[in-house]
Amino acid sequence: MDSCLLFLLLLLMDNNGLCQQEEVCSKSVINSCDDCIRSGPYCVWCKQLNFTKAGEQEAVRCDTKAQLIERGCMAEAIISSNNEQVIKKNNPLTTSFNREEPVQLAPQEIDLRLRPGLPMTFRVSFKRLQGYPVDLYYLMDLSFSMKDDLENVKGLGQELFAALKKITQHGQIGFGAFVDKTVLPYTNTNKEKLDKPCDEDSQQCQAAFGYRHVLSMTPNQIEFEAKVKEQFISGNLDSPEGSLDAMMQAAVCGDKIGWRKSSTRLIVLTTDDGFHMAGDGKLAGILEPNDEQCYMENNLYTKSSEMDYPSVGQLAKQLEKNNIQPIFAVTENMQTVYKQLSKMIPKSEVGVLSPDSKNIVQLIEAAYNRLSSKVTLTHDNLPDNVRVLYTPICSHAGPTRDTEGFCDRVHVGEEISFNVTVTALSCMKDTSFTIRPLGIKDTLTVTLSTVCECHCQDPITTNHTHCKEKGSISCGICSCHEGYVGQFCECAIGDKDERSLRASCQRQNGTECEGRGDCVCGRCQCHTTENGKSYHGDFCECDDEHCENFQNKLCGGNGKCNCGQCECYPGFEGTACQCKVSDESCRTVNNTVCYGRGTCKCNRCECKEGYQRPRCQQCLGCPDTCQTKLNCIECLGFESGPFKKNCSAACGKSIFHGMVDQFTIVSKQCQQKDSEGCWIKFKLDQLVGEDNYRAEILRERDCPEPPSIVAIIGGSIASVALIGIIVLLLIKLLIYMKDLKEFRKFENEKKKSQWAKADNPLFHKATTTVANPTFTGE
Ligand SMILES: *[C@@H]1O[C@H](CO)[C@@H](O)[C@H](O)[C@H]1NC(C)=O
Ligand SMILES: *[C@@H]1O[C@H](CO)[C@@H](O)[C@H](O)[C@H]1NC(C)=O
Repeated sequence: MDSCLLFLLLLLMDNNGLCQQEEVCSKSVINSCDDCIRSGPYCVWCKQLNFTKAGEQEAVRCDTKAQLIERGCMAEAIISSNNEQVIKKNNPLTTSFNREEPVQLAPQEIDLRLRPGLPMTFRVSFKRLQGYPVDLYYLMDLSFSMKDDLENVKGLGQELFAALKKITQHGQIGFGAFVDKTVLPYTNTNKEKLDKPCDEDSQQCQAAFGYRHVLSMTPNQIEFEAKVKEQFISGNLDSPEGSLDAMMQAAVCGDKIGWRKSSTRLIVLTTDDGFHMAGDGKLAGILEPNDEQCYMENNLYTKSSEMDYPSVGQLAKQLEKNNIQPIFAVTENMQTVYKQLSKMIPKSEVGVLSPDSKNIVQLIEAAYNRLSSKVTLTHDNLPDNVRVLYTPICSHAGPTRDTEGFCDRVHVGEEISFNVTVTALSCMKDTSFTIRPLGIKDTLTVTLSTVCECHCQDPITTNHTHCKEKGSISCGICSCHEGYVGQFCECAIGDKDERSLRASCQRQNGTECEGRGDCVCGRCQCHTTENGKSYHGDFCECDDEHCENFQNKLCGGNGKCNCGQCECYPGFEGTACQCKVSDESCRTVNNTVCYGRGTCKCNRCECKEGYQRPRCQQCLGCPDTCQTKLNCIECLGFESGPFKKNCSAACGKSIFHGMVDQFTIVSKQCQQKDSEGCWIKFKLDQLVGEDNYRAEILRERDCPEPPSIVAIIGGSIASVALIGIIVLLLIKLLIYMKDLKEFRKFENEKKKSQWAKADNPLFHKATTTVANPTFTGE
């Protein structure tokens, strides 16, 4: 329905103003008929044997009816459950009131069996009955300001009953009064004041009280008048009153008040002040919350001083539950307050009371008409995952909504109806809920169950031939005995289960047989391609149609495609067999291929690192061979250097020394200093191949003359001694000169510093004289 609403928003409205739900069946993971019908309201199942091809997933049995028939499923093999409704109890609407149990709502009981997601609509009819009984409870504020109102009400009996007669022959009136809780700060708790809380002394005044039920429902006008006459005004301190306490008791104490089972129940609350509500009790230290129970003894509310006021929500709930419709007859100054209260209490009305309550009868009549001409249908105890939509069908219909539906300006005796659309959103246990018009006793009980299982009427045999006598049929699928799996129970398995068998048909992260074959007993049986060739490979991952193309031909037309790779015919090569086998362009002057420094592929040299095309002759970035081959040259030519001991092992393979009849690619003259500091001259010829040289070494080395050791040592000792002596003399001279200079300076200063001999006049020596008291002078 949500997607449908969205659809509505997008298109605003289609031509009919209705939203057509498209019939689709989106298949998620489906292994059985039950899965199928749970997966969407339009999914149905084909139980025909052999409907699936060999190896095909059973999920193809689940689709929309049209799709299945197109695929060749017989209509009688289609398992589809639809919504069903059975009307269990449907007593006709009563036409005129003459019986104990009049019927205003039909039907009364309905059973629904719903496919999740598929809405079901049924019709509910309602008729306001002419002369339906009315119970009216007059609940009066007796705080002191209501003094003149009370006087008026005492003379009102006849008028009230007359007005009631106009509506019904079966009217009853009851009476109750309230002030407020008899504790501070609501009421003065001074003992005398409790007994006589009225402001003026001369008054007849009754003791302070919370709520008192005075008269149970009676059709007797005399009795009503007599009881009301006995009432006196009372009083309290603050202006809000305990009206919610009184209404709550009047609602829940059905027996005491005398509400009849089948009647329109009204409470007329008359007051000229506001009301206390839940939480206000804390002012008087009352912390216990209201528990919505009846506490009446001797017609007095006993928990008035112990239990907090009810909340508006609690009161609204109890009024609705007991089908009581309140009429707030309040003075003008309180109108806005009670209008707000009325908004929170379904089926309630507010009327403006004249200061002395003279207009009360007209007020009640008007409010009653307003209340009873609006019929609101709603539900109780709706389970989660159930949606109910009400579409009223009447001349003044409210909008279609999912919480309630209403018809306005309904006349007595007029039959109206509602389309009620129920949708179960998911599979659930059997449940029920009630639908009823607000303020009316009649209800419709809806029992709801969901259709989430298939009843396929399978053959009874447990060894069906279709299942190779190793299993039974369940909605067209083989259900195999233990140890057997497969579409027809054809695979006997040891300790493996079907899942691991299926897993062996998948590559890592792949789908079963790549979607190109059937998994039969753990092995892929590959399908054929569109061109009639077969897929192959363990997982059917290969086909012979997807290889490299050359000149728009598969494998250049010179080879065979095998699992994505070209296999070239003789005489051809290349990834797409695009080359003739030939090395013409790779041949060098001396008839080698790429000078032995690469291979010839597709008639082109593929050179080793550094060597350059076309024929790998030059090397870019190769190290200087004069340098790298020096050690070998040294040992080969002069039997010295680091490779002295293992020369032929280290160098024999890469350097020929002397004459070799081989083609020279490049020659190079080198002159290097060897490990002994001698200059060697040699010629290196690069031969065919990567590390292959011929060396011609000049016989003579150019070595430097070794120096005379004696001369070096003698000379160096003499020069060191001489330098030492000169340095010492210089140092001696420098020290002497410095001493001389210092001495002169000292002499000079001595002459200048005569003043230093005098005492510093600022300085006095610190002197302490201590007289020793024991010193006698001797
Ligand atoms: C009420 O429901 C019936 C089907 O049960 C349908 O034919 C009819 O059009 C509905 N009426 C409205 C006003 O939706
Ligand atoms: C030859 O000997 C030297 C040291 O004497 C050594 O560093 C070098 O690796 C050896 N070469 C081979 C090929 O044995």
